Amino acid sequence: MSVCSTTGLSQTQQERWPYLYKHLIEDIDVPDLSSITEAYISSLDGDLKKVIKKIGDAKAKSRESLTNHLTSLMFRRFGKNAMIEAFGSSVTNLSIGTGDLDLCLSFKNKTPRKVLRKISGLLHEEGMENIQLIPKARIPIVKFKDPRSGLDVDISLDNRLAIYNSHLLKSYAQEDRLRRLVHMVKYWASRRGINNAFDGSLSSYAWTLLTIQHAQLVQPALAPNRQENCPSKPLSFQGKTFDVGFNDDDFNTENTQSLASLLISFFDRYATRWDWESMVVSIRNGKAHSTKSKKWNHTGPLPLEVVTGVDDGRMEHVMPIEDPFDHEHDLSRVVRAEGAMSIQDEFMRVITMLSEGKSWHDICEPVFEIDEEPDDLFHDLRSTSKDEIATRLENLRANLVEVEGQIRDLVGERQNSKELLDLLRGGLRETRNVKSDRQQILSELRPLSMKVQELREVRDGINQRIAIPTKRIHEEMVRIFEKLTSEVDVFNAPNLGVEKGDFAYFFELQAMYEASLKSNEAHQEFIRLRREQNEEYRALKKTKKQEEDVLTKLVESNPALEGVHLNPKSVKEFQKNAKLLQRSINEQYSSKHELRREIGRLEAWQRISSKRNQNRGQRSSNRDSTRRRPRAPDVNINEVRQKASSGDALSLTELDALLSKGGIASIGNVSNEKSQQKQRQSKKRSSHKIDIRQGRRRGRKETRK
Ligand code: CTP
Ligand code: MG
Repeated sequence: MSVCSTTGLSQTQQERWPYLYKHLIEDIDVPDLSSITEAYISSLDGDLKKVIKKIGDAKAKSRESLTNHLTSLMFRRFGKNAMIEAFGSSVTNLSIGTGDLDLCLSFKNKTPRKVLRKISGLLHEEGMENIQLIPKARIPIVKFKDPRSGLDVDISLDNRLAIYNSHLLKSYAQEDRLRRLVHMVKYWASRRGINNAFDGSLSSYAWTLLTIQHAQLVQPALAPNRQENCPSKPLSFQGKTFDVGFNDDDFNTENTQSLASLLISFFDRYATRWDWESMVVSIRNGKAHSTKSKKWNHTGPLPLEVVTGVDDGRMEHVMPIEDPFDHEHDLSRVVRAEGAMSIQDEFMRVITMLSEGKSWHDICEPVFEIDEEPDDLFHDLRSTSKDEIATRLENLRANLVEVEGQIRDLVGERQNSKELLDLLRGGLRETRNVKSDRQQILSELRPLSMKVQELREVRDGINQRIAIPTKRIHEEMVRIFEKLTSEVDVFNAPNLGVEKGDFAYFFELQAMYEASLKSNEAHQEFIRLRREQNEEYRALKKTKKQEEDVLTKLVESNPALEGVHLNPKSVKEFQKNAKLLQRSINEQYSSKHELRREIGRLEAWQRISSKRNQNRGQRSSNRDSTRRRPRAPDVNINEVRQKASSGDALSLTELDALLSKGGIASIGNVSNEKSQQKQRQSKKRSSHKIDIRQGRRRGRKETRK
């Protein structure tokens, strides 16, 4: 693999960002879009119209019914305290059909504890897929996929600002051409894999703000500054105050440019004229802010330095885009080096292709397989025999019974485990005072025992040296004293040697007597402290007994607690077990929902094929006609698809409609294919990313006005 000596990009990276790479190593001019012909603009306009006709929000109904379903789910779980509100493209009129469903969950009163976990449990029970919790984000989020509608859903907690900024975007979207322009920019960005903030590129929201800023800057302006000269509306949120006021009045633009020319100038502006180093996209200002005045200067390495491994520091303000209400929030803070490189490469690619007169279809060639819905829900069953389908159904039903049984067992087990946990916690609470008493006793016992030991050593040490009892020593002392002090018999006077010996003996006795008194004293103290010590031991035993009584009571109420120690470690073990059980329950719920969907699909196919056979009999006079698909019956196909995917019974008219209009993608093995496709898509997306600052040198700069 050859590494470029100028840029440091590897061969793979050069192939991944070819337009940007070429621009970096060759001293080429940035394509000049001012010389684009009217003929090309009008053909591009034609292309755009075709795409616009196609995109629409085909899932609008699914979004609405899913929102209603989730709302009632939250009510059931959290009561009237919970509020669900949609925001994002489902309310802004800026959806291109591929976007997610953004919902905000808030609580009128206190937010329940461990709310994200509770929601996740609920979603598992509902058979939702790919559930992810992002609790540490600025706004905590639960992300998941609804397999029935195929919609990706984000439920964010108390995302109040987003509700307000969605209203602001909706207000901008009143202008038809601006709305279409946003649609086209989002369409291009999504097909080129650069509109996913979680993948390190820009969010759809950020692309929308870029488009609005462009509409404010074109001459004559296509969009006003809706946050100018409007009454302020302060909103306190997360300890800060935001002004969420804006002007919702109609705006009559004098701009008559076609959608295609507006789109060309959009790319021209951000690919070549916008000086990302000194300019901040700011729709609340109606024009760029300076990075200097906002103190948003780019810091850290350049994306090229990061992707080539020269520097692994953190990039700041790589494509500064200010949130219209939260002015401290730069929407490019999620952009990683690879994302920045991809965005820049895409900008270079699009202006090159526009200058070469390429079609919008080519410009938006998807970088990953497009998640198109298969037009036939039963495609894999058409060549399967009746018997084979019947056998499959039988097996699936048996599996379902088994899985349901397992769920019942697991739920029962979790219930038991929770009961034990509650009992254990109660027991711990009950013995809390006993435990602290014991601690107190133990802390007193330790020095007491040391003192007792010390006294014992003093006493025994003396007693070992002086084996005679104190009383005897005293008597002997008295005897010698009398001997030494009695009148001297002059005829029988002791000689000096004897006298000296008596004196020495007396002094010896005196010393022994003192030591013996000390030993007695030590002994008395020893006895006293031993008594105290015994009392403490008795108290200690009593606390142990109290604890044992609590444990016995617990075991009596639930024998499963036999042998369990009453301590926090046991509580932790029970908690861990409850979590593992919950995980298994969730897995089983997912299996159950998958099985039910597949059973529903096979049953639907059985009904369809038996109806077809009947028809075939009736129309035997015209055999050919049986091969043709029936005309689509007049029913709401979206509702029918929802019903089919959830396994609900369908009327024959609805089944016919499904067959002739095509099915939904998220059923049974179709859903597996889709999730594999999605994985391939996200792999490709994340493997296709790039930088915004390289190449700037050669662009024609737009400066702040
Ligand atoms: N939002 C926000 N701050 C961000 C990203 C998003 O406040 N950094 C809010 C905005 O209210 C935005 C909504 O989240 O309208 C949805 O964001 P996103 O899904 O990126 O935009 P959509 O317009 O919904 O795009 P799509 O149709 O692709 O889902
Ligand atoms: Mg969205």
